[in-house]
Amino acid sequence: MIRMALTKGRIETGALKILSRAGYDVSELDEDKKGRKLLFRLGGADIEIVLAKAADVITYVERGVCDAGVVGEDTIMECGAELYELLDLNFGKCRFALAGPSDSGDPADIAAAANRFFTGYRHRVIASKYPNVTREYFKSKGMDVEIVKIEGSVELAPLLGLADAIVDIVETGSTLKANGLEVYEDVAPISARLIVNTAAIKMKKAEFDPLIDNIAAAVKADNE
Ligand code: PRP
Repeated sequence: MIRMALTKGRIETGALKILSRAGYDVSELDEDKKGRKLLFRLGGADIEIVLAKAADVITYVERGVCDAGVVGEDTIMECGAELYELLDLNFGKCRFALAGPSDSGDPADIAAAANRFFTGYRHRVIASKYPNVTREYFKSKGMDVEIVKIEGSVELAPLLGLADAIVDIVETGSTLKANGLEVYEDVAPISARLIVNTAAIKMKKAEFDPLIDNIAAAVKADNE
């Protein structure tokens, strides 16, 4: 049996779509059927599905209690875990970006605000739900900044005067826009990944190979 953990929410929905397209019966996880259950068996297959929070998906796969998992690249980058990322599932696409205030949404104003942010030696405060990603990004730019960890709705931090800018996930850009913020620079692209436990993939090769092949084919078909 293979046990696979899916990140609850948007990633779960995308992953179930792929599993269904790959030929697996995911009806046990239908919204109107699943209730508060967290552990499921796919119909007619030796596959168990676990629903968990993103960081926990990584923990379960790292500790080997789940053989595989589907999680966003954002959580993988923030955890800094040495994981075996087997497949880019090509959904849940968004990006990490550095964003801050701008006089207007005018490209010239945004460029001027970004330039003001990057130049000079003043003390800069950056708010983020992703302090490790933020630290790595500014380290790569040789900039020394103060990072404040925020748990959600990071867009508030510059509006309240807590931070000069934020590093956050941008998908459509509408949350930034609604709060008068603009992207100064893209940090990294993000998508959903299939991660696996390296010991499990060796020990359960006969079960893993067809599953991976089916998922890879479904991802390919989805993008054609
Ligand atoms: C994420 C992110 C932004 C928003 C970006 O938040 O932190 O706030 O989505 O999406 P957009 O570019 O399409 O507007 P999420 O919905 O996960 O909520 P949270 O801030 O409470 O974590």
